[in-house]
Amino acid sequence: MVARLFWVLHGPNLNRLGLREPEIYGSTTLEEINRRLHAMALADGVELDCHQHNHEGGLVDLIHQAAARGVHGIVINPAAYTHTSIAMRDALAAVAIPFVEVHISNVHRREPFRHQSYFSDLAEAVICGLGPEGYEAGLKFLIRRGQKS
Ligand code: DQA
Repeated sequence: MVARLFWVLHGPNLNRLGLREPEIYGSTTLEEINRRLHAMALADGVELDCHQHNHEGGLVDLIHQAAARGVHGIVINPAAYTHTSIAMRDALAAVAIPFVEVHISNVHRREPFRHQSYFSDLAEAVICGLGPEGYEAGLKFLIRRGQKS
C-alpha cells in the first residue's frame, strides 16, 4: 500500500525562526521543527514534505502542487498572510484538501490586526499559542483523521 502524503507549509519570515523575535516565537529553528515532524511521520508510516516560501504567489503555487501530488492533508502556518491573503484562502478552497491552521504564538493575545484570519472558517482546526508543538498536534490530528475515513 502506498503511504499517505501530508504537507507542511510555512509562510513568510518563518525561515527566520530561532532568530526572529525569540521572546514571541521561541528559539526553535524551522529545521528543528521540520525534523521533529519528519520523525513523527516516519513513526506513523506516512510521507511528509515540508515547504517554506516568503511570497504569496509561491505559496498559492505550492497549494496547487499539493493537489496535483494527491496530498491528503496540509498543516499550514500562513504567517502574516493569515491576516491578508484572499488568494491563499481561495487556493485552499479550490483544492479542497483538509488543512489545519497553526500559529506558534497566541495571535489573540497580540495586536488586533492579528485577530482576523482568512483561513480559520475553512480549516479543520486552528491551533495557536502552543509554540512549535502546534505543528505536531496539527499533523497528528490530520493523520488520525485520515485513518478514520
Ligand atoms: C504567526 C502569527 C502571525 O501574526 C505572524 O505574522 C507570523 C507568525 C505565528 O506563527 O504565531 O509571522 O503566524
